[in-house]
Amino acid sequence: MKHACSYAATHAASLADPAAFWLHQAQQLPWDTPPRQALSQDANGFYRWFEGGKLNTSFLCLDYHVQQGRGQQPALIYDSPVTNTLRTYTYAELLDLTARFAGGLRQLGVGLSDRVIIYMPNLPEAVVAMLACARIGAVHSVVFGGFAPHELALRIDDAQPRVIICASGGMEFDRVVPYKPLVDDAISKAAHKTAKVVVFQREFVQGTLQAGRDVDYQELLQAEAVPAVSVPATHPLYILYTSGTTGRPKGVLRDHGGHAVALRFSMEAVYGLAPGETIFAGSDIGWAVGHSYIVYAPLLQGCSSVLFEGKPVRTPDAGTFWRLVAQHKVQVMFTAPTAIRAIKKEDPEGKLAKQHDLSSLRQLFVAGERCDSATYAWARELLGVPVIDHWWQTESGWPMLATLVGLEGMPAPRAGSAGHPVPGYDVQILDEDGHPVPPGTTGLVTVKLPLPPGCFPTLWNDDARFRESYLSTFPGYYFSGDGGYRDSEGYVYIMGRVDDVINVAGHRLSTGEMEEILASHPAVAECAVLGISDSLRGQVPVGLVVLKDGHPLAEKQVEQELVSNVRGQIGALACFRTVVVVARLPKTRSGKILRKTLRQLADGEDFAIPSTIDDPLIIEEITNAFRRRSLGAAFETLPENAG
Ligand code: COA
Ligand code: AMP
Repeated sequence: MKHACSYAATHAASLADPAAFWLHQAQQLPWDTPPRQALSQDANGFYRWFEGGKLNTSFLCLDYHVQQGRGQQPALIYDSPVTNTLRTYTYAELLDLTARFAGGLRQLGVGLSDRVIIYMPNLPEAVVAMLACARIGAVHSVVFGGFAPHELALRIDDAQPRVIICASGGMEFDRVVPYKPLVDDAISKAAHKTAKVVVFQREFVQGTLQAGRDVDYQELLQAEAVPAVSVPATHPLYILYTSGTTGRPKGVLRDHGGHAVALRFSMEAVYGLAPGETIFAGSDIGWAVGHSYIVYAPLLQGCSSVLFEGKPVRTPDAGTFWRLVAQHKVQVMFTAPTAIRAIKKEDPEGKLAKQHDLSSLRQLFVAGERCDSATYAWARELLGVPVIDHWWQTESGWPMLATLVGLEGMPAPRAGSAGHPVPGYDVQILDEDGHPVPPGTTGLVTVKLPLPPGCFPTLWNDDARFRESYLSTFPGYYFSGDGGYRDSEGYVYIMGRVDDVINVAGHRLSTGEMEEILASHPAVAECAVLGISDSLRGQVPVGLVVLKDGHPLAEKQVEQELVSNVRGQIGALACFRTVVVVARLPKTRSGKILRKTLRQLADGEDFAIPSTIDDPLIIEEITNAFRRRSLGAAFETLPENAG
């Protein structure tokens, strides 16, 4: 399917008159009350889309397609090798379940604008819960199952949910992870007291229900189906927490109207998917990719979406993704480069891929972290279809840079680059003073305001933090937190975060938060956490700690306690496994720890020792410490105890 317009003309039109461009896109959706205006500003001066319009995302995703004759088409294909389950839900079935579950939520007292936290793996029951919240105008917040109770408690206190919906457990490879005890622990840690907990019991692990508070998921499905309520376009649809530079996660807010318009547009223009076609996004519903391209965008566009519960490897093997593509005749696949690296590691010659008929596949899209050229080339050669690296963030909710396959005249994808700005995004690379940098020069990646529909209008309950974190660095621009450059042909290259955020296996984590946890240990005087290069996960965190004089604990014990504290507080997904005790940390004379220099040192990159360093000898001490531990790309091949 090709869009009538060329990329260049579409992008230019979207910037020349954003309101007219997006009002036209909005007309592709069945509004209850169509918006008369596209763009406005609220009392804070923040941009809002489609004020005055009314609709409901759950209606758009379900009822509308059934009315249009898609009732018998698969909406969701749940494929779970970890539980040996394959179940397809048609649009009519998904609508029925959602409408009844929405009725059940109402019976629990959930109403318009009430928050509902969902703590579940990739299960159809989780998708039903999301759509049911949307249906009654409640605001869901899905929390990734790998987060520990402390992190869940932070989100409970921020979102203040009336109800938490959880699964009794998840399956990590063949290891059962009981979720219910984690939820109980989080509730006891949180100051906010959640009224009700809904538990979806899985066959392999039973959650204990607390009388008076906990309800079985299946009971809610016995309720009468309820229709979708019409809500303003600016009504909140969901909150999705993401890591910032501190221990307090940021509640990225998404609204009904702009989100629906942008995601539908993206399905057509970015991914080139027509109604009736199939997408497989190998992500988790706990992340933005899962929200947008497992759940909402495919359903808004009348597509079929593969909901996969498992990992790219060992469930049961590194051919799982290819089996999914062949079996479900997937046209577009989306995953993180880490997943491809994991597959490549176990099946370097791609023998498993060759066992499947992958002829339905048109493109593989990758995002979530930088895609290294070797991974890009391997996937390209193996699959024989374009591999498209594209860049986005939880904040945007849909791609900001891409090679758009639904538009004509798009320059071909190029290894290392995330492509060109998507219509609606005026991506600019600025220097620290806010001036555009010339092509080829690395700077800070920004988007000139207004951000297009679908992007977060603000942070949940925190307009000040929204302004301060994203809008204050360069007035008139959204600052992404990434560094990058544009080449002379207009291709943009994203080089990584310039703040204290790292990307571990495509999961966004805060080193600042890990430092807070390390610093709270009684034996630690000071610390720094770095994200160092890792051949599988892209980056992994490493803690450098200076111990207090005279503390009674052995170094090894402190190291173990620190690893277990981070795992216990953030969760296993942080992959925080290494702590190195050092005598001192390199700092500027004003006391700022030289984290970037430390990371460059570990990664074996060229770096200049900053002239402001208080004592250059410390670099040599740290080099020796890295070498002793064979830590980082620069030292990993050296034998233990060298130097
Ligand atoms: N629930 C509970 N625990 C979880 C979890 C979840 N949902 N997700 C991860 N974990 C745990 C893992 O079990 C592991 O625990 P361990 O330290 O006890 O072994 C730890 O968190 C680290 O997880 P992960 O980094 O995922 O390692 P892994 O060995 O389980 O899998 C990969 C490695 C590469 C296969 C996996 O990271 C992967 O599929 N990455 C792609 C990520 C992705 O698609 N991200 C989407 C962003 S778009
Ligand atoms: P998240 O909000 O979890 O989606 O993480 C967003 C961050 O992931 C971005 O700020 C980037 O640092 C990184 N990222 C996402 N996609 C890409 C990409 N295609 N190339 C490089 N980095 C990316």
